[in-house]
Amino acid sequence: MLKSLKNEFKIPKVFEESEYNFWLDEYISKNLLKAHLNPNYEGASRKFEFINSSVNWIYKKFPVDKYNRVLDLGCGPGLYAERLYSKGYEITDIDFSKRSIEYAKQRALKENFDIEYENYNYLDMNYENIFDLAMLIYCDYGALSKNKRKKLLEKVFASLKNKGKLIMDVFSINKFNKFIEKDTWEYSKGNNFWTKDESIILNTNKKYENNISLERTIVITDEEIKKYSIWHKYFSMEDIFNEVKSVGFNNIEIFLDVSGREYCEKGDTIAIIGEKL
Ligand SMILES: C[S@@+](CC[C@H](N)C(=O)[O-])C[C@H]1O[C@@H](n2cnc3c(N)ncnc32)[C@H](O)[C@@H]1O
Repeated sequence: MLKSLKNEFKIPKVFEESEYNFWLDEYISKNLLKAHLNPNYEGASRKFEFINSSVNWIYKKFPVDKYNRVLDLGCGPGLYAERLYSKGYEITDIDFSKRSIEYAKQRALKENFDIEYENYNYLDMNYENIFDLAMLIYCDYGALSKNKRKKLLEKVFASLKNKGKLIMDVFSINKFNKFIEKDTWEYSKGNNFWTKDESIILNTNKKYENNISLERTIVITDEEIKKYSIWHKYFSMEDIFNEVKSVGFNNIEIFLDVSGREYCEKGDTIAIIGEKL
């Protein structure tokens, strides 16, 4: 018994993908959509106050007459897209969450927003010389392994026109230092974040080498055991600069966050802009 459980619950290798992805789960994605749409909750999306100031900064930094065609990767339910659209940008949004994209499409239909919403994995995109600006916002880049980060940056680079720009944010080493390792468990009668069923939920927070963390959740119900791994790579300014530079971006600029605040080593995020030249 113990042997089989030990095998079932063994700690994964770095960036090993779990069988289930929490963004795509039919039940969990309902809770994630609620989190995206809660204006005062820093969860699946940032608080609306931040998103508003971020959009205002993007509007100033990337004037709509020069950066008209925008690619928004991991767009969620279109919080950035709707705001940018109303400022005059032409937006293409990609997200692999069916629930988020369906919600965004319904809103676009109702409000008459001419926004293109695409439901697939952005690692599979194949655009060439189309966009003036590509965005990857709320630290999604760090959720990818090194190979996938490279693949994504190369695809973003290809998708941009000459002089097109990338803007994205990542979590910093400062944030990694605050990450606390722990092993916890709870019993739930059901209707929790992870499942509608009565369950036991095991959580492991673990730090790996090279500033990588794992938040692993195992959900045990009468029917099944589901495991979810959420990985994060945290960056120093030099690390993220070098990764973005290595695929060919130039004129790199660094900020604290995607609302344009000045970079500070003690911040939890780093925002980076690169130009395709
Ligand atoms: C942290 S949320 C950020 C949402 C949005 N950028 C915002 O700031 O409001 C990350 C989003 O990226 C999506 N996502 C994660 N990995 C993806 C992938 N490989 N392809 C497409 N979408 C992805 C998730 O479904 C989720 O909606």
